[in-house]
Amino acid sequence: MPVHVVDHPLVRHKLGLLRQDGLSTKDFRQLSNEIARLLTYEATKDLDTDKRIIQGWAGDVEVDNIHGKTLTVVPILRAGLGMIDGVLDMIPGAKTSVVGFYRNEETLQPVEYYVKLAKNIDSRMALILDPMLATGGTLMATIQLLKDAGCKQIRGLFLVAAPEGLERLEKEHPDVDVYVASVDERLNEVGYILPGLGDAGDKIFGTK
Ligand code: URA
Repeated sequence: MPVHVVDHPLVRHKLGLLRQDGLSTKDFRQLSNEIARLLTYEATKDLDTDKRIIQGWAGDVEVDNIHGKTLTVVPILRAGLGMIDGVLDMIPGAKTSVVGFYRNEETLQPVEYYVKLAKNIDSRMALILDPMLATGGTLMATIQLLKDAGCKQIRGLFLVAAPEGLERLEKEHPDVDVYVASVDERLNEVGYILPGLGDAGDKIFGTK
């Protein structure tokens, strides 16, 4: 499972701004989307393109073209929605597949409550969006759901990941590539990433 830490000055700078306590909802959302754009750039670096001839201002010109029906973007509700605008800025034609899970308080397992996948998902690369890869429970459930639907190529885009979540992903789904702005130190006793960002969902939606 290659982990691509997108080590770019813009990403490091924006992530530094995002870690600032007391940031406004507007700034948190804007920075999350700006980083998501840069992660998308890296995560789509190896997409196949076709050549085609178009009519340019001075006659025929050969241009590159990404195949149709190539991608689906998969935000995990609700925090994943905080990255979707940035990703779709870069790939506006991508279809969006939305998934939502809640945690069963007895079994502690994620239970799906909303799933709406793009058509032809078996022939698309899925880009899962979640700002935080913490314990990885919801991510594992999302990957399994996508694989059960026939999806063969899956990548995950995260703002921040914990080593514990990455280790679990490596064990359970070594075929899934990860694009992340930072791998942080560790999880605290209640599953928050340190130094992390705090509750990303609350910060994106202004619910705290
Ligand atoms: N979800 C968050 O929003 N933050 C964390 O640190 C971990 C999970």
